[in-house]
Amino acid sequence: MKWPILKGKTLVLGITGSIATYRAADLTRALKKEGVDVHIVMTKNSCQFITPLTMQVLSENPVRVELFDLKSEEIGHIATARMADVLVVAPATANIMAKAAHGIADDYLSTILLAATSPVLFCPAMNPAMYHHPATQENIRILKNRGNFVLEPEAGSVVCGEEGKGRFPPIERIIHEIAYILTPKTLKGKKVLISAGPTREFFDPVRFISNPSSGKMGFALAGVACLRGAAVHLVSGPVTLEPPPGVQVYNVVSAKDMYDAVMSLAPNMDVIIMAAAVGDYRPEKVMSSKIKKKLSKVEISLVQNPDILASIGANKRDNQVVVGFAAETDNLLENAEKKLRKKRLDFIVANDVTKPGCGFFYDTNQVKILMPGGKVEEVPRMSKQEVADKIIDLVEKTLKSKKSDE
Ligand code: CTP
Repeated sequence: MKWPILKGKTLVLGITGSIATYRAADLTRALKKEGVDVHIVMTKNSCQFITPLTMQVLSENPVRVELFDLKSEEIGHIATARMADVLVVAPATANIMAKAAHGIADDYLSTILLAATSPVLFCPAMNPAMYHHPATQENIRILKNRGNFVLEPEAGSVVCGEEGKGRFPPIERIIHEIAYILTPKTLKGKKVLISAGPTREFFDPVRFISNPSSGKMGFALAGVACLRGAAVHLVSGPVTLEPPPGVQVYNVVSAKDMYDAVMSLAPNMDVIIMAAAVGDYRPEKVMSSKIKKKLSKVEISLVQNPDILASIGANKRDNQVVVGFAAETDNLLENAEKKLRKKRLDFIVANDVTKPGCGFFYDTNQVKILMPGGKVEEVPRMSKQEVADKIIDLVEKTLKSKKSDE
């Protein structure tokens, strides 16, 4: 599971008739995988593109199409509108947005849009000329001004062969937007700095010393903090991950670059989390040309890099929360406890990287969180997204306790 906030939520998915209608099937499957209870409402036109039966099988719930159903005893459209934690229209045609903007309720979907009390997300997908038409743009403005969410379509070539904005967005972007809408903004107004990934210490123009960090843990933390409304600054070593939407990224290579980037941002931050696997040593000399294979043995002398987290800890303000990680192969608690004290941290997240499914490049992690005073919280093996959620919960708790101390 990637988005813990989605688990157990009820989502009403409105489907309208567009060539992108079939993508609603992928969206439904992805939502079901996240533990969402999906209830589908289809317009009659959308049934030309995909059958209600397909959507019923995928959603595991009855599909609504007709507004007046003699078999049903309840006032269906009101009940459907009220059950939703969030209502999503995907794909949304120009027509459904025009109806919603002007309060027209002439079928099941347009009627529940008028009766809805939950947040509503429209995911428009259409021909670029229809999307850019002043009427469509005006309707989108009306919907947004009324507090609805509208996810911009992607640019590129659309099915009819034209180029422009109007493509249905990737499923992952829609799910992220739904998670954003559903997440309470408990970190609003807070500035959070997160470091992630490995560093590279070059000893000639084409070779370097590094470690296998993927950056997944730091990127997951940045994603969670961003969903909760924080302004997130992510300083990252070289990784192949897509940064979470809305996060400001600073790309760095060496430990020295990371030190400079982090130390210049740190004084203005409310929270600093060092999840990066910073190289402790760098080659003493960096050759200006590639080392040739002439010699049978090459010795590289290493010198120590600055400890970024120790510098942050030494300069930290009383109301700042500073969190470190400890990747250990032996004496987990003992080593982590030393780092917690020495670097003046609010807490440290320790993991034994020799355990299966833990640390560096895995999608899961199993950690122990150590607090000053000896308290230890054991977090069982779970996805890095879920571990990130737990860590950010604790950050919020620590921020609150510092505020009440002031
Ligand atoms: N860290 C840092 N700067 C360094 C080395 C580490 O900021 N030059 C940070 C890491 O991002 C992590 C914490 O310090 O949050 C602990 O890192 P770790 O590599 O586990 O420990 P070290 O302090 O480097 O000690 P050792 O390598 O001896 O275990």
